Amino acid sequence: MNLNSLSDIAKAMVEKGRGILAADESTPTCKKRFDSINVESTGENRNAYRDMLFTTPGMEKFISGVILFDETLRQSSLADGERYPDYLKNLGVIPGIKVDKGAHPLPGSEEEKVTEGLDGLNSRLKEYYDLGARFAKWRAVITIGESAPSGTCLVANAHALARYASLCQENGIVPIVEPEILMEGEHTIEESFIVTEEVLHATFNELHSQNVLLEGMVLKPNMVLSGYGCSEQANVDEVAEMTVTVLKRCVPSAVPGIAFLSGGQSDEDATAHLNKMNQILGNNNPWNLTYSYGRALQAPALAAWGGKQENVKKAQDAFYKRAKLNSLASKGEYGSDME
Ligand code: 13P
Repeated sequence: MNLNSLSDIAKAMVEKGRGILAADESTPTCKKRFDSINVESTGENRNAYRDMLFTTPGMEKFISGVILFDETLRQSSLADGERYPDYLKNLGVIPGIKVDKGAHPLPGSEEEKVTEGLDGLNSRLKEYYDLGARFAKWRAVITIGESAPSGTCLVANAHALARYASLCQENGIVPIVEPEILMEGEHTIEESFIVTEEVLHATFNELHSQNVLLEGMVLKPNMVLSGYGCSEQANVDEVAEMTVTVLKRCVPSAVPGIAFLSGGQSDEDATAHLNKMNQILGNNNPWNLTYSYGRALQAPALAAWGGKQENVKKAQDAFYKRAKLNSLASKGEYGSDME
């Protein structure tokens, strides 16, 4: 891997046929995931779970990078004690780090959030670089509601994303810029389209104002989807068409790649949507379209693992399968019969 510049790293992260594993669940989020399988969320169990994922034989064929949480960046592989950033790098997988401090209530708003974590970020990035991280992630959360999103919420989150991105690039780290419009709500896919367009315009406007190098970043957006509570759920073709349309309107072609979040979709939906978008774009892709899934890559593996050493092989097989199917989807070569 040639990782000499921000643009080399960004291109390697979204290389055709590979995508990113988001394994950066914060400790409280990891507890939620472990509660679902009745496993206690201790440092040791979190290490064992991440070890199962990262040591899946052959996963590097489909996984270009892994987003880690601070704790995991400092933990080590169970087999030989190699620190995870070194272990992953030696496999040809780029280590990354979640650097935001979560979404917190936006002052003056009842339902909206702004992501915190800019204070002290510069020195944290220097430490993360020394520990081996070559890319980072910051997630902004946008809600669709009665009077949301407000202009204040859009500007505050876009501004923070751009501040984070420029600090990352100053420190030789590629920023994943993640403005996520939540699927929670009763909104239609048309409403999701309108808000996604607004959010992406606000985000790229701020990235431009703050001199972020577009060639040295990766965008991690939501897909355009019907809200969970909407009575009419859009089908795969509608989701793919509308998502591609909004991205073409808003994302400059200098951005090397777009790696979607899964956002609570079922794993099969997340794969089918990505596949259809790549089929629509064919070889006319301004950017590579790939995955940076958390739940949609991990859910079957988490269930199969169940906190037991004897289930590691079964869990790794489940993770391998999802990674492989998403790799095919990133080339438009997936079919539901492969499930
Ligand atoms: P999901 O794919 O589970 O949405 O997680 C991706 C992620 O990194 C959220 O920030």
